[in-house]
Amino acid sequence: MSDDVLQVRDLKVEYATPNGPAQAVGGVSFNLGKGEFLAIVGESGCGKSTLLFAIAQLLTYPGSISGGSVHFAGVDFTTLTPEALRLHRWRDISVVMQSAMNALNPTLTVGAQLADACKAHTDWSDERIAQRSAEVLAMVAIDEAHLKSFPFQLSGGMRQRAMIAMALLLEPQLVIMDEPTSALDVVAQRSLMRQVETLRHRLGFAVIFVTHDMSVVSHYSDRLAVMYAGEVVELGPTREVFDHPEHPYSQGLMEAFPSLLGDQRELTGIAGTPPSLVNPPEGCLFAPRCAHANDECRRVRPELVAYGDHQVRCHWVARNKAS
Ligand SMILES: Nc1ncnc2c1ncn2[C@@H]1O[C@H](COP(=O)(O)OP(=O)(O)OP(=O)(O)O)[C@@H](O)[C@H]1O
Ligand SMILES: [Mg+2]
Repeated sequence: MSDDVLQVRDLKVEYATPNGPAQAVGGVSFNLGKGEFLAIVGESGCGKSTLLFAIAQLLTYPGSISGGSVHFAGVDFTTLTPEALRLHRWRDISVVMQSAMNALNPTLTVGAQLADACKAHTDWSDERIAQRSAEVLAMVAIDEAHLKSFPFQLSGGMRQRAMIAMALLLEPQLVIMDEPTSALDVVAQRSLMRQVETLRHRLGFAVIFVTHDMSVVSHYSDRLAVMYAGEVVELGPTREVFDHPEHPYSQGLMEAFPSLLGDQRELTGIAGTPPSLVNPPEGCLFAPRCAHANDECRRVRPELVAYGDHQVRCHWVARNKAS
C-alpha cells in the first residue's frame, strides 16, 4: 500500500493550433506522497500551468489530454465524467490558479461563495458553514467581517488569500497552486507562504506549487521538478537539485538565481529559445541550446533516468555517470 496521494503517468497534453497539434506537455510522470510539497520551475511557456490544468482536469479547448493517466486515491481522473469530477473538486483536490486574484465571483460576497462550496459538498448546517468559513478566513489572516464583503472591496492580496481560504475550506488532500503569490508584494508573499506551511503541517495536505521564486522553492518544497518544453528534465529532493543541478538546463536556471534572497534575474545563462512544440526536434529538446550536445543528443530523445532518488533526462549526464 503506497502512501502516494497522486500518481501521474506519461501525461500528455496537446493544444490544437492552425499549424497542427502543439505538444505542451509531453509524457510527464511523477508520484506525490501524502503531505509532500512539490515545487515546479521552468521558464515561461514550458507547460507548468498546462500540466496543473491537466492534473486537475480543468483543460478546455483547444487543450486536451492526449495520453497518460492521473490517479488520485486509486481513481483515474482522466476517465471521470464532469459530474464525477465535481464531487472531487474542492473536497479532495483544490486549485488556486495563476489568475486567482480574479477567480472569485464578483457578484457574490466572500461568505456566499464559501457557503456555496460547502453546500455543494456537505450537509452542514448554516451555522456550521458560517463557523468553518470564519475559520478558514482566519487561517489566511482575513477578518471574518469580510464574509460580508464583495471581492471588489478586498485588496488584490486579500482576494488571493480568500482563494487560498476557499481551497482549504473542505480540507482537501491535495492543493495545487500556480504562482499564487505572484501579485503580492514581498512581505505579503512571505507571510502567505508561512501560513500555507503552518496549515500544511497541521492539516497534512500535499502541495504542487508552481513558482518563479527560488526562495519559496528552497524554503518550502520537499522535491523540485524542473520543466523544459513540456517535459520534466530533472526531479529530486529540493536541496540536491538546488545545490547540485545535473541537467544543463537546470544548471543554467539555477545560475540565473545566484542569491536566494536576491531579485529574480533574466535567464541570461542559456542562449537561444525553446523549440517549436508543433515540430519539435528529433533528439533531446534542449540539444539546440546545449553546450554539451553531441550526435546522440541530436538524434535520440533521452528518457528520464533515476540516479537514486534524483531523476535526470540527459544523455550527457548518463555518459558522465557511466565513465
Ligand atoms: N490556448 C492555447 N492554445 C495554444 N497554445 C497554448 C494555449 N495555452 C498555452 N499554450 C502553449 O502551451 C505552452 C505551455 O503554456 P503554459 O501556459 O502551460 O506555460 P507556463 O509554463 O505556465 O508559462 P508561464 O510561466 O508564463 O505561466 C506554451 O508554449 C503556450 O504557448
Ligand atoms: Mg503558467
